[in-house]
Amino acid sequence: MRMPIFVENIDRNKPAMTKPNSLFPDLFGDVQHSPVETSSQVDASDDAIQQKIEDLRESLHQHNYNYYVLNAPTLSDQEFDAQLAELAKLEKAHPEYNDPNSPTQRVGSDISNSFETVKHRYPMLSLGNTYNEGEVRAFFERAAKDLNEEFEICAELKYDGTSISLTYEHGKLVRAVTRGDGTQGDDVTNNVKTIPTIPLQLPANAVYPDVFEMRGEILMPWDTFNRLNEERERQEEALLANPRNAAAGALKLQQSSEVAKRGLDAYLYYILGEDIHEDGHYESLNRAHTWGFKVSDHMRLCKNIDEVMEYIHYWDEGRKSLPVATDGIVLKINSRRQQRALGNTAKNPRWAIAFKFQAEKACTRLNNVAYQVGRTGAITPVAELDPVQLSGTTVKRASLHNDDIIQQLDLYIGDMVYVEKGGEIIPKITGVDKDQRLLVGDKVHFIKDCPDCGTTLVRDEGEAAHYCPNSNGCPTQLRGRVEHFISRKAMNVDGLGPETVDLFFDQGLIRNCADLYTITREQILKLDKKKDKSADNIIKGIEASKEVPFERVLFGLGIRFVGETVAKRLAHAFKDMDALQAASLDALVHVDDIGERIAESVMTYFADEQNKELISRLREYGLQMKLSEEVLANQSEKLSGMSIVISGVFEKHSRDEYKNMIVQHGGKSVGSISKKTSFILAGANMGPSKLEKAQKLGVKILDEMQFLDLIQ
Ligand code: IVH
Repeated sequence: MRMPIFVENIDRNKPAMTKPNSLFPDLFGDVQHSPVETSSQVDASDDAIQQKIEDLRESLHQHNYNYYVLNAPTLSDQEFDAQLAELAKLEKAHPEYNDPNSPTQRVGSDISNSFETVKHRYPMLSLGNTYNEGEVRAFFERAAKDLNEEFEICAELKYDGTSISLTYEHGKLVRAVTRGDGTQGDDVTNNVKTIPTIPLQLPANAVYPDVFEMRGEILMPWDTFNRLNEERERQEEALLANPRNAAAGALKLQQSSEVAKRGLDAYLYYILGEDIHEDGHYESLNRAHTWGFKVSDHMRLCKNIDEVMEYIHYWDEGRKSLPVATDGIVLKINSRRQQRALGNTAKNPRWAIAFKFQAEKACTRLNNVAYQVGRTGAITPVAELDPVQLSGTTVKRASLHNDDIIQQLDLYIGDMVYVEKGGEIIPKITGVDKDQRLLVGDKVHFIKDCPDCGTTLVRDEGEAAHYCPNSNGCPTQLRGRVEHFISRKAMNVDGLGPETVDLFFDQGLIRNCADLYTITREQILKLDKKKDKSADNIIKGIEASKEVPFERVLFGLGIRFVGETVAKRLAHAFKDMDALQAASLDALVHVDDIGERIAESVMTYFADEQNKELISRLREYGLQMKLSEEVLANQSEKLSGMSIVISGVFEKHSRDEYKNMIVQHGGKSVGSISKKTSFILAGANMGPSKLEKAQKLGVKILDEMQFLDLIQ
């Protein structure tokens, strides 16, 4: 297994050394079997150094290809790392031989990327979609009629990632651009260079066009995706929804050194240019494979519709064991001449179609329905299932959301149920196979009492969720609220995590977040395995939280429906806790974005005697109960009533700082552009689709300086 020193988190489980792959001889000259000499043997003359640098680069490009594309490494990890370190050292000492496509560039950099908008040389069309085999037959028949001659179809997997256009000039990768709106996209070259399966430099002895474009899909393999999510779960961070979003998100990261850690992969499926020799699409991709591109092994040339259908049926099942996500099959008329003859519509080529698979479904047994109590008392029913494989992961639990859904499904314990993954990471139950309902158990009825404290549950009118109303006595709610209070976006108490909070509860040291401020170092030391240093850290973290701004204290209280943004709005509207506590329903609903539901929840919270006492204790311990002088001095109503969209990369302040400024000056920061948008605060490289929309709707665009002038 190679863990390159520069790419963390990649574990391809490859043998450290295997024999060279005889099918693909040395692409990069004859460096493969002649080890590159080490530094002690370097001649100091400039020519010799330059030669040495070039040899190392060639060797590393070749081995990168052997390892990542062919899965057949020919160097041990140690040798690879030694050569890479050697090259990095020489490049540092000789910047005059700099090459932006050197293998050392795969490590990425810490410099913030700015993604320039670039126009595509050839528009990036999308494919016409169908879920229907009849339409696939119709596509085939239409092509037969229009072409009126023999033709072949190249059947391919439809990879479910994010598409990319790679431009090569004289064998070097010069540009990588996202699809964007199809006409122009973002230049993400620095980030793409970190993906090990994308060649930076094509081999010297290969014959390829001077200029050409490769298109393909950037993917996050299931293994990497699952590992990143496990890590996130441990860190209590939001989970990545699916590998497609994860790959697209990674490509837009600000630092390419971070992208290098995301374990991205790529499949290339389309070559464009003036001088492509092969008429066949299939043949041209196989040729590109010999230049070092990763092309799918699963393409197949089909001569008739039966072969096409066979391919579709095979992969509908076969895709479940692939290392990456796929969502369908792409069928392309193979001959480029015939492709040109068929041409394109405004949006799609007439020579290709995508057949999409039905969302992956699994059928498994429902063993039990458990009920989870959230920190606000909301009860979530969770189906416990016989473990089943679904789109690359083992599923044991699925959300049932609420009582209405349970009623609709008409569930019995022991039922065989269908599980699907939508866009979200948590799978859901979409149906019951009633034909298999033979010896089932009880009908599932939503519980009446809280599973933790036994209090009778309530369901407010118009609400889908059941709640446990015992907010100051229900143990799970109490713990959940303290865990929320100390979490990163609220008080961010360093050194303290949910396990320690559990220990505090178990030992009877705390019952609410105010109790945290009475804990002593000695009490912590007496707890299970707590060392001096961690006790000091916890005390320090708790002390430091007294400086956390008022709006985050408010968010940390965990009032139902008061998330981060609402807390910010309330803090800015009322300025301190006293005013907020005294606010009437009317005053509350007058604040932007605060509807009756939130206002009532706030009123209920502050009417509770125990909550009042909690707040007065927090005040006594020194927590921030009003907006800081600095924030107050900078407040105004200059943006009152305005909806502002932020887009692009900024120099003077971060995006979050701009968001805060908008709220401080009475405005609202919103995500998408509409007729109601007052203006767009645009940094460099505003996204092309946003720009187009803004122009279409005639929405004003202000740059950083104009915005700062406006609020001055
Ligand atoms: S060919 C003009 N081949 O599906 C045809 N696309 O809407 C260009 N995709 O944006 C696309 N696997 O991101 C092609 N084997 C494959 C593909 C594929 C995935 C994606 C691609 C494109 C979308 C089609």
